[in-house]
Amino acid sequence: MQLYIPQCPKCLSRLERNGETLTCSDCGEIYTIDKNIILFLNSITLPEEFKSSQNFFNNLAEAYDNSIVSIVESMGCKWRSYTEALEKMINKTNNRVILDIGCGTGFPAVSFLPKSVTYLGLDFSHEMLKYARNIISQDINATFFNINAENIPLENDSIDVCMSLFSLNSFREPERIVEKVSHLVRRKGSVIISIPVAGEKRQNSDINRPIREEALDAIFFPLVHANWEVSYFQCGSVRIYNFIKT
Ligand SMILES: C[S@@+](CC[C@H](N)C(=O)[O-])C[C@H]1O[C@@H](n2cnc3c(N)ncnc32)[C@H](O)[C@@H]1O
Repeated sequence: MQLYIPQCPKCLSRLERNGETLTCSDCGEIYTIDKNIILFLNSITLPEEFKSSQNFFNNLAEAYDNSIVSIVESMGCKWRSYTEALEKMINKTNNRVILDIGCGTGFPAVSFLPKSVTYLGLDFSHEMLKYARNIISQDINATFFNINAENIPLENDSIDVCMSLFSLNSFREPERIVEKVSHLVRRKGSVIISIPVAGEKRQNSDINRPIREEALDAIFFPLVHANWEVSYFQCGSVRIYNFIKT
């Protein structure tokens, strides 16, 4: 696998690889690489307010894949319908460089990726990323960023497909991340987002906190306002959005 070298998250300058480290050509910060996972969070302190959520996902990593299946089904959406819809959307895209924000263990998305794409999985939980790295096919060029989603170290217009599956609802300020994504994705590129939408029964865990319909309008404002094409597939109270940059 070939490592995708991002920018320095501190000063957005070029990073140079020296063996199992990346060094910033400007600020001199050094980031270590653990077999395709760039450990940005060893050098950049995660703000205190994110730590309990990071711990929650670190502790859940081993049981995550079973949990997400149960959660989707508990929202009135058959796992098979959910994954078929996702697979169809991913396969319709112009997918050369794919960024997956809050990729977790990579399940289920990485099993749908076409061969020979460049996949960038981003997550603040190193434990979740270790599973993702182990299941991804050798045919895919994968690089994982262990970093906060509020600090994506990539240039504008560098991504063809950006996914965020069951993750936007666990971010503290999802609207800021969507704003950043609107710049990262190239023209004709896509954004695929799956999200639980609030029904009558509200739950409050980091993993299945649903988002209210009114809040979605504010979160997606940067895309809708800039005339991205939007469509969605509804399955129980899970929604999968597909935005295309025109
Ligand atoms: C519910 S899981 C979703 C995993 C996977 N995308 C899926 O489809 O099931 C949410 C993921 O987002 C990550 N996450 C939550 N907040 C984050 C943040 N601020 N920065 C980076 N990752 C974050 C968690 O560690 C977790 O792996």
